Amino acid sequence: MSDPATTAPGAAAPLPEPLVYALPDLGATQALARRLAGRLEPGLLLFLSGDLGAGKTTFVRALLRALGFEGRVKSPSFPLLESYELSRFRLYHFDFYRLSSDKAWLDAGFDEFIGGRGVAVIEWPERAAGLPRPDLRLRLDFDPAHGEQARVARLEAASVRGAACLNALRTAGDAC
Ligand SMILES: Nc1ncnc2c1ncn2[C@@H]1O[C@H](COP(=O)(O)OP(=O)(O)O)[C@@H](O)[C@H]1O
Ligand SMILES: [Mg+2]
Repeated sequence: MSDPATTAPGAAAPLPEPLVYALPDLGATQALARRLAGRLEPGLLLFLSGDLGAGKTTFVRALLRALGFEGRVKSPSFPLLESYELSRFRLYHFDFYRLSSDKAWLDAGFDEFIGGRGVAVIEWPERAAGLPRPDLRLRLDFDPAHGEQARVARLEAASVRGAACLNALRTAGDAC
């Protein structure tokens, strides 16, 4: 019998299968963000992918609310980074959609904020070259067959630490 799980480079144990969530409306996306918020640990790197308007920034906004941030959450425009001091860690929210070149994030010194003591969340990581491997990848896609607000989320672990996070979500029986 073949093992469907994949192994990360350098990882001792196989990584778990991705979690897939049907998100029928905005509230479901926000609920998923709240669940993930409780699993974030300092140093974690999360990639957020999906088309424009899929809900990446909305997801980060809900994450921040769940983590107790009450102020305004803007979509990072210039300098492509917003940072938030939270009770347990600092959260760095990047949006690389308008990155002028695939290495511009390094020229801007953003590597200093990734993989340190903060949590880093990156929208449009595909536009940057040389980023470290994330712990988690979340992809949000439109799901037009189920309505205008419907989305499908796919959460994948890419490191041992990401796997622990994903397994905790799975054990909690959170999949929608
Ligand atoms: N299920 C849903 N999940 C996320 N956003 C939704 C959903 N349904 C509707 N929306 C709306 O879609 C828009 C998503 O915008 P945004 O989060 O800026 O997207 P992105 O950052 O992926 O470009 C928001 O106006 C949000 O209210
Ligand atoms: Mg966005």
